[in-house]
Amino acid sequence: MRTLVTAALIYSNGEIHLGHLRSTYLPADVYTRYLKSSGKKAIYVCATDDHGTPALIKAEQEGRKPEEYTRYWHDRDEKEFRALGLDFDVFHRTHSPENKEATIQLFEKLRENGYIYQKEVKEYYCEHDKKYLADRYVKGKCPSCGAENQYSDQCEKCGKSLKVGDLIKPRCTLCKKEPVLRESEHYFFKLSAFSKKISAWFKKNKELQQDIVGYVKNWIKEGLIDWDMSRNLKWGFKIPGSNQVFYVWFDAPIGYISSTKKWAKENKEDWKKWWGKGTKIVHFIGKDIIYHHYLFWPAMLMGAGDLPLPTKMPARGFLNLEGQKFSKSRGNYVSLKEYLQKFDPDHLRFYMTLITPNANTDGNWNWKDFMSRVNSDLIGNVGNFLYRTTYFINKYFDGQVPSFKGPGDFVKKWKQEYRKVTGHMELVELKKGLEGVLKLSGMANKYFQDNEPWKLIKNDKKKAGQILGVCANACKNLCSLMFPFTPFAMEKLSKEMKTKIDWKQADQFNKTWKISKTTPAFKKIEGEQIKKVMK
Ligand code: MF3
Ligand code: ZN
Repeated sequence: MRTLVTAALIYSNGEIHLGHLRSTYLPADVYTRYLKSSGKKAIYVCATDDHGTPALIKAEQEGRKPEEYTRYWHDRDEKEFRALGLDFDVFHRTHSPENKEATIQLFEKLRENGYIYQKEVKEYYCEHDKKYLADRYVKGKCPSCGAENQYSDQCEKCGKSLKVGDLIKPRCTLCKKEPVLRESEHYFFKLSAFSKKISAWFKKNKELQQDIVGYVKNWIKEGLIDWDMSRNLKWGFKIPGSNQVFYVWFDAPIGYISSTKKWAKENKEDWKKWWGKGTKIVHFIGKDIIYHHYLFWPAMLMGAGDLPLPTKMPARGFLNLEGQKFSKSRGNYVSLKEYLQKFDPDHLRFYMTLITPNANTDGNWNWKDFMSRVNSDLIGNVGNFLYRTTYFINKYFDGQVPSFKGPGDFVKKWKQEYRKVTGHMELVELKKGLEGVLKLSGMANKYFQDNEPWKLIKNDKKKAGQILGVCANACKNLCSLMFPFTPFAMEKLSKEMKTKIDWKQADQFNKTWKISKTTPAFKKIEGEQIKKVMK
């Protein structure tokens, strides 16, 4: 069995902030690291989402070519993501030859299968700017929830996907004048033809996130509307035989496939195996793009006919900062870049996992809570146990892990909890998984504390060795179990301890070996640091 993990392709038109990480990029990385460290075949595929009007508008504002502008963000995003330990097997872009080819192929297949048709539609046109105004070139009031200042393709407030003409009081974003409606021939994808098939798939695939399936079913009940998938725009892939380009949401998810192809080519793998039988496809997404992933994308795949459907699509809510929405203009905002200049990537990974259940709910980043969870749970519990055990073995046993006979009780309890943790990880219950690992670490700490090896060492070194042998194995195991969450520290520790990261072996207590000097795995967060960042 193979698992192909993706995180929603990030728009290459602005900075990454902490909110992006929580819903998508971090959980996908933790999950893939878990799979790989359990010996499973898995890859983590991501890319930038380069097309669409937002990138074009921003590039125009800065007097740059969209191609070059989005490349800048691609390169910068990749660098920042990797600095957080996101270990993509490939980080490609949608404005690539691979994606162009895959997009046209899929389009042709859908057309052959009768799911594409052309129809005259009204389109916004600005007589002042002499320009068709796609999507974000027009703003107005959402007809569904009444929110002001919404773009013409989707309301960010209620998530509703909008058609031309839907907006109340539309305005051209370039000149603020009211656009007119003009007729133009667009390409449509017959989403309406898939209601039954998608409903049947929801019934069959129980691995889909059930809270979400519940309300997507309601959207289907309300009736699916065919999808306008072409735009009069200069930025994007040209539709064969037309002057229009594909709507960004058509070629973006195809980026999942084309990025896999790129990876396969560079790694001498067969991409078809990764988009075929025997592969589980897991898309991590944020709650604002559920419509696109639970409806558009599976319909596209079904329409093409020869591609597998997603197995899981974990969707998470937004992140607030100190109880308020992220907002750059109001200063309630932390970019990944700023975070990385001030704090440790493992600390973010740890705290963020703890505030992110496997559900479509929002979360809150609180700096004081961040400091206290890191200092007490990560350092006070895990770091402390790892360090004192290895320190003792170095000091009194010259680094040689003493041989021992395992205490049945402790190991039995460890194995039980370990099985639970593994079960959580399989279900993408990463918060519960991490909490289980903390429980194991707490057990190990208590075992150390109750047996007082620092006292035994003086008059019963053999007994002290028994205890420390067990503890050393617990350290080895914790190192594997913490690895998906805090990979930088655990990689360093596994080198110092001379152990291998292997989730499958993390319930085994049967090793003696020689370790070398260790250093504390984590660095404490100081109150001063928090004060500074809270301003
Ligand atoms: N760029 C989109 C967003 O950030 C996500 C694209 S996901 C894909 O909302 F499926 F289209 F790739
Ligand atoms: Zn205008």
